[in-house]
Amino acid sequence: MEDLTPSRESLEPIEIASRDEIASVQLDRMKWSLRHAYDNVAFYRDSFDKAGVHPDDLHDLSDLAKFPFTVKTDLRDNYPFGMFAVPRDQVARIHASSGTTGQPTVVGYTARDLDTWGTVVARSLRASGLKPGDILHNAYGYGLFTGGLGIHLGADKLGLTTVPISGGMTQRQVRLIEDFGATGITVTPSYALSIIDEYAEQGRDPRESPLKVGIFGAEPWTNAMRLEIEQAFDMHAVDIYGLSEVMGPGVANECVETKDGLHIWEDHFYPEIIDPETGEVLPDGELGELVFTSLTKEAFPIIRYRTRDLTRLLPGTARSMRRMEKVTGRSDDMIILRGVNVFPTQIEEQLMTVEALAPHFQIQLDRVEHKDVMTVMVEPWPHTVAGGDVAARELAQKVKQVVGVTVRVTVAAPGGVARSQGKAVRIVDNRPKV
Ligand code: DLL
Repeated sequence: MEDLTPSRESLEPIEIASRDEIASVQLDRMKWSLRHAYDNVAFYRDSFDKAGVHPDDLHDLSDLAKFPFTVKTDLRDNYPFGMFAVPRDQVARIHASSGTTGQPTVVGYTARDLDTWGTVVARSLRASGLKPGDILHNAYGYGLFTGGLGIHLGADKLGLTTVPISGGMTQRQVRLIEDFGATGITVTPSYALSIIDEYAEQGRDPRESPLKVGIFGAEPWTNAMRLEIEQAFDMHAVDIYGLSEVMGPGVANECVETKDGLHIWEDHFYPEIIDPETGEVLPDGELGELVFTSLTKEAFPIIRYRTRDLTRLLPGTARSMRRMEKVTGRSDDMIILRGVNVFPTQIEEQLMTVEALAPHFQIQLDRVEHKDVMTVMVEPWPHTVAGGDVAARELAQKVKQVVGVTVRVTVAAPGGVARSQGKAVRIVDNRPKV
């Protein structure tokens, strides 16, 4: 694989500034952001007042811990525009995430917010190894989802040639990557697997593709999956993280030269890790729930937002800003099976070690005779016929040994596991609702 390390001169100075400089920028901006939220959003004024805190109480970055958390239901309760901190006519863009309950979560951006978003996404794409003039095949969905249009903003800012293909029509995805000579691809890791299958379907070798780097996110994926995708395409695979409530893609990104976790663009998004049970702030290095406070957002300031994503904060390496470890999973996706906590990523890791099985999977939960049963639906590589039973036993044994739970494994026909063109649905819960 080609060395794609960006030159130091191409970075923004803040990316390699001293920790003191970064902390000083953060403190100034945090004071502004708390004040902005308190003065302009009734929800924040009420919640700060109830907690007995005022923006003037922040003297130090650690004082943030005195302020109350914001959770997803707060956003739903203020649907659609109740959390906006600027008059509606200054909102240049709306995005929304679908949410499982049907009530979407709405977020807004001023023109300046869109500019900031472009900056952090450009930074992310540069960290991933892309340079002005590269051709980017952007297969994240365009629309209310922040993936497509968010990446697009950053690609424009970095000076890439963007192909705004969005998700779906997989045959055409392969054709245009090849015909246009895309050097970068932005897509969910699960949809990348479908694109790999389509290469095989068309009798083409993805290793011969012009792609040099793939920038994967919007859902959890493991280092084992990284190797799988890197080998399939003979290209780098890096991780991009973000969420609509905080901005969209580009809150954090891995550097192609280290691939050791995602640098959080801390000059715009201030991270904390908390104990999800007690809400107590945990020291860097400890695993817990990621919480974000926006430092510069105008239309939709967000204070101590509980992401439900589980990870830990690590010191900077290729950049001065702190890293977050690859997200293990969302607390919402944690399955408790007879007392053992299981995340879909743990199943993914084991699946990747079973040679006869393709990397697609879905977990089904059922209740059988008052007991919860977990079935992992997998499939063999296309054109493989025999060996399904042996592979199923191998996977079940590995999951038992390493993860510590008993699962059933069902091997479907090739193509039999549900595919998605965006975020994969990893868990189908058929248990009766109580
Ligand atoms: O998924 C934004 C995005 C688009 C990120 C494209 C990266 C690439 P939402 O739809 O609001 O926004 O979903 C946010 O997705 O809280 C995580 O649970 C999950 N997620 C996003 N990126 C990653 C990642 C976009 N790299 C939610 N690893 C977040 C693991 C991720 N989970």
